[in-house]
Amino acid sequence: EKVPKRQGDVATVWATIRHEAMGCTRCPLHRDATQMIFGEGPLDAPLMIIGEQPGDQEDLAGRPFVGPAGQLLDRALAQAGVDRSRAYVTNAVKHFKFERQGKRRLHQSPDAGEIEACRWWLGQEIDLIRPRIIVALGASAARAMLGKAVTIGRTRGAAIALKDGAEGWVTVHPSYLLRLPDAERQAAEQARFVDDLRMVAERVK
Ligand code: URA
Repeated sequence: EKVPKRQGDVATVWATIRHEAMGCTRCPLHRDATQMIFGEGPLDAPLMIIGEQPGDQEDLAGRPFVGPAGQLLDRALAQAGVDRSRAYVTNAVKHFKFERQGKRRLHQSPDAGEIEACRWWLGQEIDLIRPRIIVALGASAARAMLGKAVTIGRTRGAAIALKDGAEGWVTVHPSYLLRLPDAERQAAEQARFVDDLRMVAERVK
């Protein structure tokens, strides 16, 4: 399937793609989610950050990374010297996938088919914005960025050549850090996350 030819400047094309994504039925996740959460940030950003999917708070707020994972991400970016306002922040999957447990909506990981279906949109965001550096947070984002499954442990710490001369970096997802039960381990893993982002900061300067 080919992406249609788009008319207009970058902002117009971005708004068109976003509008189309709002009506997306390429996978079943649109049925239960509140809304489609598209990427946001400067359309000339040198850096794109890809998360997994909107969480409970993002699903309600309509913006990516505003909940607990987003707060951790913001803190880590600040520590690493990356200005979030200079980054375009998006997700591999644009609808919240969850399971109801009483009143709570518990996050469920998107599967390979959902990630692949949603690459239709991510690919258009990347082709439009053409960031020099793309950071994938966690396995789902890495899969969406690379088009294949990789392990974070073996992929983090080094640049991966992407199309159009872009550089891809893989690191952990902030939610993984929030889930670590051991405080010491959490501190160590958070420091490593900041180190990964520091390497990225060097390159976006
Ligand atoms: N986790 C993600 O991967 N993306 C968000 O937008 C929020 C939480």
